[in-house]
Amino acid sequence: MTHRGVFVTGTDTGVGKTVVACQLVRQLRARGIETAVIKPIETGVGVDGPADAIALREAAGDRDPIEDVCPQQFELPVAPSVAAASAGRRVDRSAIRSAYERVCGGSDFVVAEGAGGLLVPIDEQFDMLDLALELSLPALLVARAALGTINHTRLSLEVAEQRGLDVVGVVISHADGVLSAADAANLGALRSLLGDRLLGEIPPRGHTGAKQPEAGGSSPGSPIDLDALLRRTDDLRASG
Ligand SMILES: Nc1ncnc2c1ncn2[C@@H]1O[C@H](COP(=O)(O)OP(=O)(O)OP(=O)(O)O)[C@@H](O)[C@H]1O
Ligand SMILES: [Mg+2]
Repeated sequence: MTHRGVFVTGTDTGVGKTVVACQLVRQLRARGIETAVIKPIETGVGVDGPADAIALREAAGDRDPIEDVCPQQFELPVAPSVAAASAGRRVDRSAIRSAYERVCGGSDFVVAEGAGGLLVPIDEQFDMLDLALELSLPALLVARAALGTINHTRLSLEVAEQRGLDVVGVVISHADGVLSAADAANLGALRSLLGDRLLGEIPPRGHTGAKQPEAGGSSPGSPIDLDALLRRTDDLRASG
């Protein structure tokens, strides 16, 4: 059975996937849409538990046990295949699959957060892009605002297309603070390139968003264009 939702991936690690995923969850819930969350694999998990999964679960209103929200946890803060090997384990994909079915039960929408970017290895044969395909979720790509983002974003979109992963759109997160004039011009080029695939921008924290051009339909209070995201998600489900 397929579920309505998105797989939040990024052009890199640390680009703002968790920030965007939590924002999306809050906007969905504000719309009255019952939302499940899952972080299938989290690495760098210390004594305080899986930080991303805890943040997602809190945004979703603490619905499910943390072991289901994050079924595969590893201590080393590296790619899943490497973190698992260092613990003498392999990523258990069937545990992900069953946790996914449990968290999705009774919800209208699921927000999954990947680890790293699309080509991060999960084992010798399987990477994060394969996981999005296995869960039958289209990707929501998070891009950083900083220099290098045009290349990273195009690479991610091209590989998704080549391998048959639908992408509902892109959200830019200003994880690196307020941009220099040069970086702002560079980001303007990315916005133009994306056109209506740009579904929103998360301004730098503490910033009202007034100086950051908004994607169509979004506003500083609700940075992601939820109508467009839901429309595209539903269109892809109908055509898939
Ligand atoms: N718009 C923003 N404004 C300010 N800080 C941000 C913004 N987006 C992200 N950050 C910060 O950047 C860092 C990385 O963000 P986040 O944890 O969401 O990235 P990620 O892609 O989920 O990383 P990971 O690959 O570890 O899962 C965090 O400290 C986060 O608080
Ligand atoms: Mg994260």
